[in-house]
Amino acid sequence: MKVLGIESSCDECAVALVENGSKILSSVIHSQISAHRPFDGVVPELASRLHVETIVPVYRQALKEAGVTSREIDAIAVTNRPGLIGSLLVGVSFAKALSFSLGKPLLGVDHILAHLYAPHLEGKLEYPHIGLLVSGGHTLITMVRSFDEVEVLGTTIDDAVGEAFDKVAKHYGIGYPGGKAVDDLSRSGDPLAYKFPHSRLDKGNHPWDFSYSGLKTAVINQSEKFLQPGKVASLENLCASFQKAAIDVLWNKIRLLVVSTGVRRVVAGGGVAANSYLRSLVNAQPGWNVYFPSLALCSDNAAMIAGWAWGALSRGDRSPLDLNAESRVARFKRKYP
Ligand code: KG4
Ligand code: ZN
Repeated sequence: MKVLGIESSCDECAVALVENGSKILSSVIHSQISAHRPFDGVVPELASRLHVETIVPVYRQALKEAGVTSREIDAIAVTNRPGLIGSLLVGVSFAKALSFSLGKPLLGVDHILAHLYAPHLEGKLEYPHIGLLVSGGHTLITMVRSFDEVEVLGTTIDDAVGEAFDKVAKHYGIGYPGGKAVDDLSRSGDPLAYKFPHSRLDKGNHPWDFSYSGLKTAVINQSEKFLQPGKVASLENLCASFQKAAIDVLWNKIRLLVVSTGVRRVVAGGGVAANSYLRSLVNAQPGWNVYFPSLALCSDNAAMIAGWAWGALSRGDRSPLDLNAESRVARFKRKYP
């Protein structure tokens, strides 16, 4: 089954063709990063307008690279939640029009489940496994029992981890997107130079939850000290210390979950899964099976959408032509989907 995947939930306009949930025939990603860079963040209105301009050429390119005609597509899968509503609507409208005109089944796909599915596109993966989804919009630690049975154990109560990277980077003018810029500067910094707070939510009812706004504020407030006469400021040290605090919190929860459940398979997805410090910590664990998708599949892409959809389409799942876009998932929803 050849599934066409469409992803437009944020600032990547992507279309991919994936066969039987694993073989990527093409995966075209048009990133809007350069358009949003002057604003140091994604501008929702600009994002949706750019999706309108690019979705047709990206779709044509995906067909061309796969060597497939539109008639040979078996089904159309599209991210319909969560994300920026205007951006999501572009992908959903395009997918519905395509489904109607080609007479092919349509399926709305949850972006989060698709991120957690991404490693399946690069190899065999056993269930259950611990799934970590860390991006600009999400910070989730989950137990993944099958492609569509995901138990959310913890989530952020305020900022997402990638959002904290982006906001710190924006404050210090380091670059956009912030995560990679902070990661790069950290390589030549001392992670012990500053002591930043590690959020500890492990005493309450939701021990797996995260909080990043306190850390973000502490790092931003540090800039006042930079301005003091006689202080030698080092952005490298600041970045390395911030990165250590942000990632150690994630890492401690992963480690604790592995110990308490005995599940030693760990899958990570989302842009922050590209973080070199996180990768070095997780990969260094003897006896663990760790699946980090390649960088192209960590961040937003349409192959993960088409890949995930295959399982659901194969058992007969379909979305109606009045499929709608939904911007949010409930913040404390514990079971997924
Ligand atoms: O999954 P993604 O491409 O888009 C969504 O947010 O859905 O993730 C983007 C996020 C941004 O916040 C970006 O700063 C962060 O991932 N990021 C990183 C790294 N590369 C990207 N954060 C930490 N270290 C990185 N190397
Ligand atoms: Zn994403």
